[in-house]
Amino acid sequence: MGAKNSALKLMAVALLAEGRTTLTNVPAIADVTIMAELLRRLGVGVDYVPEENRVVLDVPATIGHRADYELVRALRASISVLGPLVARTGQADVAVPGGDAIGSRGLDLHAAALESLGARVHVTHGYLVAEAPDGLRGAGIRLDFPSVGATENALTASVLARGTTTIDNVAKEPEIIDIATMLTSMGARIEGAGTSRIVVHGVESLSPTEHAVVPDRIAAGTWAFAAATTRGDVEVVGGVADHLRVPLGMLADAGCTVESTDRGFRVAVRDGRPRSFDVATLPYPGFPTDLQPFALAYNVVADGSAMVTENLFEARFRTVQELARLGAEAQIDGHHVMTHGVPLLSGAPVESSDIRSGAALVIAGLVAEGDTLVSGVHHIDRGYPRFEVALRALGADVTREPDDAPDFE
Ligand code: UD1
Repeated sequence: MGAKNSALKLMAVALLAEGRTTLTNVPAIADVTIMAELLRRLGVGVDYVPEENRVVLDVPATIGHRADYELVRALRASISVLGPLVARTGQADVAVPGGDAIGSRGLDLHAAALESLGARVHVTHGYLVAEAPDGLRGAGIRLDFPSVGATENALTASVLARGTTTIDNVAKEPEIIDIATMLTSMGARIEGAGTSRIVVHGVESLSPTEHAVVPDRIAAGTWAFAAATTRGDVEVVGGVADHLRVPLGMLADAGCTVESTDRGFRVAVRDGRPRSFDVATLPYPGFPTDLQPFALAYNVVADGSAMVTENLFEARFRTVQELARLGAEAQIDGHHVMTHGVPLLSGAPVESSDIRSGAALVIAGLVAEGDTLVSGVHHIDRGYPRFEVALRALGADVTREPDDAPDFE
């Protein structure tokens, strides 16, 4: 399946060119529905066919410039319209987002990047307003931290700027490369995506394109940890092991079998109980923060004690108190969690607070004796198409309560 964190941004990238852009390999998840609505309100014709994993975007010559709080609060990735809107219309009014409850995330780096390109930026009545009535101009930008979102907005804002832009200390995630690849196919001139320095030579205009979304490394990593945590055997078809070198390497060192297959990769636990391991989240290619809840769920049932350190987001340890309800031995100490693995958890009602913690709690429930009832399942639907159906196909005993149907249907 295509990456959520790329598909949403690529939909925003389409705003940069008048005409019909087609995205394929788009995941059938609730967040895409929200982004589709946001683009419709900007005047874009959006045809989203979840069953066919396709979105067709018809971008008119004149588009709006306001992203309402109602949608932005439901989908933090809405902030990715900021760069394209300023570049295309000279103005963007984007509500300051809410989104996942995973710590405070500023927009200072986004704002500073746009200011370097000549935009006037201020926050008023809960909206970040960026104005560049005479267009943006190329500049030297250095991000204080390799923020994924700020890298994207700096990139999408600069492709139509006059002259050359150099962006240093950028994020190197595969999703950044995906955006640069799509922009290049639209006629943008970009060098260095996937390294710490991106150079953009501004062009007059871009053309619509057709682009397939990069595979979802976080979903693939979820299945890898699901296999390791339940001591199962899963082949991740379409998974790109190269995008998960650090987490897969750790699972292999801990006693799991990790191997490449013709169709992707496979993670299995063949004998006994794998060992727990220390994790410290870092920007790509380091251990992804989005897989941190899965590392926790793994460590609390693996053999031995380990420490999980969260370096990217402050409050991203909500999984811990819920895992403790399942009998896990885990103590939070600042941005560290110490775990002492127990062989089996004990089923209980738990609550998911974001996409990844929700999915991690479902996996933990599979290694808990008795029933585990995970509430807040709509969070999981934001990132995983029919998670419970996929788990059942692997032999898991999981059902969805009838009143918790996926949002996008
Ligand atoms: C994206 C992903 C998210 C992932 C994260 C890190 C999407 C929709 N979301 O989020 O799933 O967990 O990358 O891999 O793609 N920061 C600032 N100022 C800014 C911007 C960021 O201080 O202007 C800080 C944040 O508070 C955070 C850190 O930088 O502590 C990382 O944030 P960033 O890389 O921007 O993450 P997102 O793009 O929001």
